Amino acid sequence: MANVIPLFDSKGLRTANAGARVLLVGAGPGDPGLLTRKAYAALQAADVLFYDDLVSAEILAEVPASVRRVYVGKPKGTTKVTQEDIISQLIEAARTEGTIVRLKGGDPFIFGRGGEEAEALQAEGIAVEVIPGITAAAGAASTTHIPLTHRDHSATITFVTAVRRDGALADIAGLAGEGRTLVVYMGLGKATDIVEALKADGIAGDLPVAIVENATRPGQRQFITTVDALAETVAAQNVRSPALFIIGRVATAGSALVRAGDHTATDGPFHWAHFAHG
Ligand SMILES: C[S@@+](CC[C@H](N)C(=O)[O-])C[C@H]1O[C@@H](n2cnc3c(N)ncnc32)[C@H](O)[C@@H]1O
Repeated sequence: MANVIPLFDSKGLRTANAGARVLLVGAGPGDPGLLTRKAYAALQAADVLFYDDLVSAEILAEVPASVRRVYVGKPKGTTKVTQEDIISQLIEAARTEGTIVRLKGGDPFIFGRGGEEAEALQAEGIAVEVIPGITAAAGAASTTHIPLTHRDHSATITFVTAVRRDGALADIAGLAGEGRTLVVYMGLGKATDIVEALKADGIAGDLPVAIVENATRPGQRQFITTVDALAETVAAQNVRSPALFIIGRVATAGSALVRAGDHTATDGPFHWAHFAHG
């Protein structure tokens, strides 16, 4: 494996002679206070920043105006930039423009195609450094006080994407139920299929589900529902992306801030503005 000298030391300070590279950086779920020190340092050190729709406006506000920004998301009504385009733009920029930051929501290696990008860049001889981020499940859990594990409720967590590469629902058999937590990413458009799959797997219809929309961002919303009522709640509350489902008894653990049956809570009580203003 190529020996890449990290661009930043453990305090987030720049190291000498680190050389050209692409930094694959996790932006976390949206609250800029949840950026790691290294992620923040990378944003300050970037010559070029590649970002997409999952990167919040509050995080982009932390990027110096001098950094060239390349949006590689999907504005409404246009065609998405393909993964191949993104990779060739990254390669081109890495060869000609210094420090390139590829900023991704959450953690770059969790449902973020970070692995594919790192592979393609390394194959071209381009050094890659990965800076992890707080994944959305952790952000959603912390702001709602839903413990993803709990000795009384769950000894295992699974993160699953609802949508496989071919667009079909991922196989979720055996992943949910008593004693376990299932967090479903990208599940909004598949809520009905998820309910069907869970019921086919023998999951009780009253198993609690938390839906967390815009976790850690201004306008965060969270709802507690059940497997039976999941699709109905998504539709009735007009839940919008980004959102995820936390399925299991932990959703109604004693610490949880939203009570079972409460479909009306809005605004995460601990979003960043509350910290920022003390
Ligand atoms: C392409 S995946 C990227 C996941 C990301 N790499 C991570 O580690 O969180 C996008 C999905 O993550 C979830 N997600 C990302 N940010 C979120 C947020 N702030 N609140 C709720 N869900 C979020 C949603 O399910 C969204 O559809």
